[in-house]
Amino acid sequence: MTGDLVTGHPQGEDPATEHADTGRASGPAPGSAPTEPATTHFGFAQVPAAEKARRVASVFSSVAPSYDRMNDVLSGGLHRLWKSFAVRQAQVRPGMRVLDVAGGTGDLARAFARQVGADGQVILTDINNEMLTEGRDRLLDQGLPVASVLCDAEQLPFADASFDRVIVSFGLRNMTHKDRALAAMTRVLRPGGQLLVLEFSRIWAPLAPLYDAYSLNVMPWLGERIAGDGDSYRYLAESIRMHPPQEELAAMMRTAGLVRVLWFNFAAGICALHVGVRP
Ligand SMILES: C[S@@+](CC[C@H](N)C(=O)[O-])C[C@H]1O[C@@H](n2cnc3c(N)ncnc32)[C@H](O)[C@@H]1O
Repeated sequence: MTGDLVTGHPQGEDPATEHADTGRASGPAPGSAPTEPATTHFGFAQVPAAEKARRVASVFSSVAPSYDRMNDVLSGGLHRLWKSFAVRQAQVRPGMRVLDVAGGTGDLARAFARQVGADGQVILTDINNEMLTEGRDRLLDQGLPVASVLCDAEQLPFADASFDRVIVSFGLRNMTHKDRALAAMTRVLRPGGQLLVLEFSRIWAPLAPLYDAYSLNVMPWLGERIAGDGDSYRYLAESIRMHPPQEELAAMMRTAGLVRVLWFNFAAGICALHVGVRP
C-alpha cells in the first residue's frame, strides 16, 4: 500500500478492465439478500448480531452533540480534506439526485446540496435520530433544502435505480450487515450511478504500531477528557481495526454488483475512498 495523502493514486481495477469486472459481478443481482451471521463484532467484542445496532445507536446518541468537534480534534482536521476529496470525486452536477447514507451531521449533504441546484435533490439519512436531528437542523439553519429520512442503510426506503450518487462516509463500519447495506445502496443507484464509500481503512503496515497506540489509547483518553465519554471513543477506535481492509471492501462492493471498483488511500491508508459504478 502506498502512503498517499489525500490526492492518492487510485488503486484497484483499471477502468480498462471494466468488461472483465462486469463479468465477475454477474453473480448476485444488485440488492440480493446475503446470509445472516449469528454474532458480529462490536469493536473487539463479539455480540449477538441483533444487538449490534442498539449498541451502535447508543454510541452515536452519546457522541452526537460533540461529534464534529471531536472529529476535528482526533483527525487534526484531516477528515475535512478527505470529505472534500470525496465530494470532488463524486462529480455531482446540477439536476442529480444524491443520497447521503448514515449522513449524521450532514457535512457531505451540505456540499452536495450546493451542487445539485434547484432541479436536483439531496436526501440525508441516518438510523440515529440524535445525529440526524443535528444534521437536519444545521442544514435548515444554512437555508439548504435537504430532505432528511430516518432509516437503516440495510433497508433503504427508496425506489430501485432512483439516485445518481450514493455516498456513505464513516458509516459503513458501524453497520451490522455491511453486505446488506452495500446491496441496498447498489439497488437504489441508477445504471451508471456511483457508490462512494469513505471509511477508515488499513494503514501501511510499518506505521500500524504507532497508529494503534494513538487510536486505542489516545482516542479514548481524549474522548473522556473532551466529550466525557471514553467508552464510545474506545468503540470507535476498535471498530476501525475490525473494518475490512481496502482489497476486501473492494471485493464486497463487486459482490454487491458494482463494477470498476477502485480506491484512493489517504494518510498512508488511515482512510480510503472506494468508488464503484452500477452497471
Ligand atoms: C461516524 S458517523 C458519520 C457521520 C457522517 N457521515 C460523517 O461523515 O461525518 C456514523 C453514522 O452512521 C450511522 N449509522 C450507523 N449504523 C447505521 C445504519 N445501519 N444505517 C444508517 N446509519 C447508520 C450512525 O448513526 C452515525 O450517524
